Amino acid sequence: MKITIFGTGYVGLVTGACLADVGHDVVCMDVDQAKIDKLIGGQIPIYEPGLEPIVKHNAEAGRLSFTTDTEAAVAHGELQFIAVGTPPDEDGSADLQYVLAVARAIGQHMDGYKVVVDKSTVPVGTGDKVRDAVRAELDRRGLELDFDVVSNPEFLKEGAAINDFMKPDRIVVGTDSDRARELLRETYYPFNRNHDRMIFMDIRSAELTKYAANAMLATKISFMNEIANLSERLGADVEAVRRGIGSDPRIGYHFIYPGCGYGGSCFPKDVQALARTAAGCDYEARLLNAVESVNLSQKYVLFDKVSHYFQGQLDGKVIAVWGLSFKPNTDDMREAPSRALMEALWKAGAKVQAFDPEAMSETQRIYGDQDGLTLCGTKEQALKGADALVICTEWKEFRSPDFASIAATLSEPVVFDGRNLYEADMLSRHGLIYYAIGRGRNQ
Ligand code: UGA
Repeated sequence: MKITIFGTGYVGLVTGACLADVGHDVVCMDVDQAKIDKLIGGQIPIYEPGLEPIVKHNAEAGRLSFTTDTEAAVAHGELQFIAVGTPPDEDGSADLQYVLAVARAIGQHMDGYKVVVDKSTVPVGTGDKVRDAVRAELDRRGLELDFDVVSNPEFLKEGAAINDFMKPDRIVVGTDSDRARELLRETYYPFNRNHDRMIFMDIRSAELTKYAANAMLATKISFMNEIANLSERLGADVEAVRRGIGSDPRIGYHFIYPGCGYGGSCFPKDVQALARTAAGCDYEARLLNAVESVNLSQKYVLFDKVSHYFQGQLDGKVIAVWGLSFKPNTDDMREAPSRALMEALWKAGAKVQAFDPEAMSETQRIYGDQDGLTLCGTKEQALKGADALVICTEWKEFRSPDFASIAATLSEPVVFDGRNLYEADMLSRHGLIYYAIGRGRNQ
């Protein structure tokens, strides 16, 4: 199958590489010349485990190529995937300008039947806008070419995207066309062969499915964070409560880990966008708004604990921060809880010595000129001369650190853990005071 992917960001690149890997002939198009040059040179602009070898292998095999030439890109694929960004507008709703620009470009250059497949996360009703945009360009050209629009949202997790694509839980396809349905079935056949993972529906339902999935997951997290906050006030241990409720299969163990708030490019943006969509049709999304508001305050829970410990006297204190990315196995710091913490610490006059296994250059890019920030090459270096340690991300290498040396290095033997990685008695054996999330009254 000949396939074109517009957008070589996270979703576009993973989709293009994985479709090429099963034998499709894929062209990835992006307007960013520097990015395309890098990709042609074999450099991958994002950190995603397992992506680089797949991109290289398929590029060498001639099944995956990169271009900035819109006309050639439109000419190539019978399927035209739109995988460009939908950043939040000032009011939190999704900005569709890039999606619609691609739709117009397809209408401007197509010369035969195409399926326009929307993979970007877009508000319900965008399928109609994409269809109108393509048709308006065809009308302008005086052409009556046939085309279909499909909504095919992605459910990739950063850090596990290749596995999620290759072994999907579900492949949601929203379409009103039998022809498009069969083409999508053929495209995804290699991923659907052993188990039928394809779920066909109308376009609007597919668009809403994407938001509903992320909003549900975000709701689980905010719910657990609320239970964690209650646990602290009631003298309960949220980790025991988590195991206690997770054992009910109707609740399940997944995505009920309390912490210092959810981040990333998806949950915060999608919960807000769905709430905006609701407001746009005169419905107040009370639950979604609460999910967001719990999360916004959860991002400050670590700061509050640090500030409380030091009795509000943070001026001149040096805080070691381990883990800057919004979750492990990515260098992505969008909406990361570490950012809320560091920014609050700086505001209070504290200094930060930060370490992350992958996100150091991203931190440099975002906070390069920031006073009071020292970027450290190792987690041990971050501890030198620090008064306390705060952990924001549960990277594997933080799971079993040398507690004795942490206790010996910090000027105050105190650890604030935003991901509940340890047990208090484990640390107290080494003379460390331990604060985690939702673990009893002294928290
Ligand atoms: C999320 C969804 O999990 C994917 O299914 C979806 O495709 C993707 O958004 C998207 O819309 O593109 P992602 O943002 O990569 O994926 O990250 P997650 O693994 O879902 O984690 C999101 C945040 O929730 C992280 O900050 C993580 O630390 C936090 N989290 C997750 C918790 O605080 N507790 C949990 O139990 C689980």
